[in-house]
Amino acid sequence: MTRVPTARSSSLPHQEAVFRLSFKGQICVKDHVARSPQSIVTYRDLANDPLPHIQEATVAAMFIPPAARNAEQVLATALQEKLIAELAASDTLVIGAPMYNFNIPSTLKAWIDHVVVFGRTIGQGLFNDTRVIIASARGGAYGPVTPREGYDYQERYLRAVLGLIGLDDITFAHAEMRAAADGDPGLAQFASFATDSLSAAQATIQAEANRPRGLPTPGALS
Ligand SMILES: Cc1cc2nc3c(=O)[nH]c(=O)nc-3n(C[C@H](O)[C@H](O)[C@H](O)COP(=O)(O)O)c2cc1C
Repeated sequence: MTRVPTARSSSLPHQEAVFRLSFKGQICVKDHVARSPQSIVTYRDLANDPLPHIQEATVAAMFIPPAARNAEQVLATALQEKLIAELAASDTLVIGAPMYNFNIPSTLKAWIDHVVVFGRTIGQGLFNDTRVIIASARGGAYGPVTPREGYDYQERYLRAVLGLIGLDDITFAHAEMRAAADGDPGLAQFASFATDSLSAAQATIQAEANRPRGLPTPGALS
């Protein structure tokens, strides 16, 4: 650790939206706050405090300007607006995302459905300056030449859907073979792979946390 993570040109406190679905995300946040105590962390435990799915009125409101919405639509979009504002105020978004059935848990999908909104956030550039760190845990392994290569819809999906709202500065840290680490006797031969994978994922997260951000690029100064 040689530099303060998320270094910025201003001394304003950082804001983070943190979505905990796995312990890997917590490691990252703990490290970050330890080195940058002025950080503001907004923590959402989507696993234990799940968001409601979007409703019919939420979808209808996507096609109606805010001033013309009825009371039900205003109410339905209130949570959506809160989550969008939370994200817009963040310079770093940390997502803890285990792989479930080759994709993400539905609890995380519910959050995505609230913040990726046609006519409101898609293509609007609201989050262009926000970088994303995704700490992912997987029971198996999905790298090149593994039997399940090609079954990884988790990273592919997250890159695609977050890209729709301008979140394309994304770092993935995958801790793979957790089933072996969790003691599955049939996978004992992969125990050291699991240990190495977790170490590599943590190193990826820490390197990302050290990456200076918010500093003006040479082009921006002229
Ligand atoms: C409902 C469910 C579905 C899962 N599906 C997959 C899967 O498709 N592929 C995989 O590699 N692991 C799968 N796993 C294993 C998890 O990804 C693994 O246990 C991971 O470590 C969970 O994250 P956590 O340790 O942060 O809870 C699944 C686990 C659960 C509970």
